[in-house]
Amino acid sequence: MRDNAHRVSVYGSEVNAVARPSATVLETLLLQGVEYPHGCTTGFCGLCKSRLLSGQVEHLDYMDSALSDEEKRVGLILPCCAISTSDCVIEPAVSDVPLPPVVSLEAEIVRIEPVSPEVRLVQLCSPRPFEFLAGQYASLTFDGLPPREFSMASEPGNAAIDFYIKCVRGGAVTDQGLARAVVGDRVTVRGPFGTAFLRTDDASPIVAVGGGTGIAPILSMLSSGLGKGIRGIAVRLDKAQIVRITNTHGNQVVDTWAFNASETSEFMSMEHTRASLKKLTPCCGESFVTNKRRPILTLLSDSSPGIHDTLIAACDRHRYELLGHVGYHDNCTDNLAAAMQAMGMVLPETPCPLNLFMNIPVIQGNRLDWCPPASKPGDHVTLRAEMEVIIVFSACPMDLLPVNGVDCTPSDVAVSID
Ligand SMILES: Cc1cc2nc3c(=O)[nH]c(=O)nc-3n(C[C@H](O)[C@H](O)[C@H](O)COP(=O)(O)OP(=O)(O)OC[C@H]3O[C@@H](n4cnc5c(N)ncnc54)[C@H](O)[C@@H]3O)c2cc1C
Ligand code: FES
Repeated sequence: MRDNAHRVSVYGSEVNAVARPSATVLETLLLQGVEYPHGCTTGFCGLCKSRLLSGQVEHLDYMDSALSDEEKRVGLILPCCAISTSDCVIEPAVSDVPLPPVVSLEAEIVRIEPVSPEVRLVQLCSPRPFEFLAGQYASLTFDGLPPREFSMASEPGNAAIDFYIKCVRGGAVTDQGLARAVVGDRVTVRGPFGTAFLRTDDASPIVAVGGGTGIAPILSMLSSGLGKGIRGIAVRLDKAQIVRITNTHGNQVVDTWAFNASETSEFMSMEHTRASLKKLTPCCGESFVTNKRRPILTLLSDSSPGIHDTLIAACDRHRYELLGHVGYHDNCTDNLAAAMQAMGMVLPETPCPLNLFMNIPVIQGNRLDWCPPASKPGDHVTLRAEMEVIIVFSACPMDLLPVNGVDCTPSDVAVSID
């Protein structure tokens, strides 16, 4: 039998675990209670990828996509598929930003309901905040069941944490265990883990692709990214899909466009909508129409006082220059272009947006005023797609006029798709 009584240390920590015979490096650490980043434990996801600082390991089978030959050549290993053959020192593959600390906390199921025949929404609440970055995942232990990994689907910082959990037929947790779970059950949440999270300091276009419950981390990123430097987001909606835009702090204007997904020369038109409705803004139940006068989005609900703007063009670099700004300024026109470019599309021009929450009253008969939004924190609108659309949102970066509140400070908004 292989002599495997080596020690596995984690660089920069006190961890110095005795390797068990035939145990992988990851098993050695987890069995001794070490919180070490990992996912699948089977060489598939690459989330345990680590640098081998000293010592030797032998790898078992793993997917090339989890660890390339080049990565292996420069000293990276997959601890979940590596057995130590000497004392080893490893460190998790370095993240480019500091990660929130891994914690264990007790939470309670406050909502559990099917959202499709195979997927449940499980919402947890914990008395202690659970700090994570949008896109990360946690290990959940439901009462009496083994731990399993699931991605947070909601925005970090909310009291409630959403998970979308798919039923794996015959699965110990997702099928048999969760079938018995009810509101009020306790769940141990351990995490956060993972490095596939939103980089809020990088404003380059993002293409996010997710299938099934793989959209959970994307929903979390969409909810939290819009107002934090990544200000333009394009999302494809099927006919009848519903999108909710929440004005988290109450003072943020959201420029909104919608394009026919199969022909972007047909787009939501404020001019045609005003003619169709014979008024400046629609009420709940009324539809915005395209430049071909077909319904494209319907305003389903609106918890704000209903003050939105259909008159004002999207801000652009020229607007900021005329207001005295020197140098480049983020603007909704460029945000739209970047978001569409990320979907592989180039627009010949910028249609007039629907400016959600923008408060431009007509005063003295025919003059316009630029006022702070009348909405309050948490106000939201829901829009239903009346055809397959690409909908684009830009949290307006205007900080020279009080359209985003009297202190002229743009803030976060949240977007979620039902
Ligand atoms: C980083 C990470 C994030 C994840 N996020 C989510 C999420 O947000 N939502 C979600 O629904 N799931 C997610 N998963 C997958 C989820 O962890 C598994 O579906 C779950 O562990 C299954 O547990 P179980 O006890 O029900 O099945 P088990 O009893 O462990 O397995 C039952 C059978 O199903 C197979 N199986 C298990 N998992 C899968 C799978 N994912 N695909 C195909 N076959 C499988 C097993 O090999 C076994 O044959 C994530 C996984 C990882 C690694
Ligand atoms: S935990 Fe997934 S590859 Fe190691």
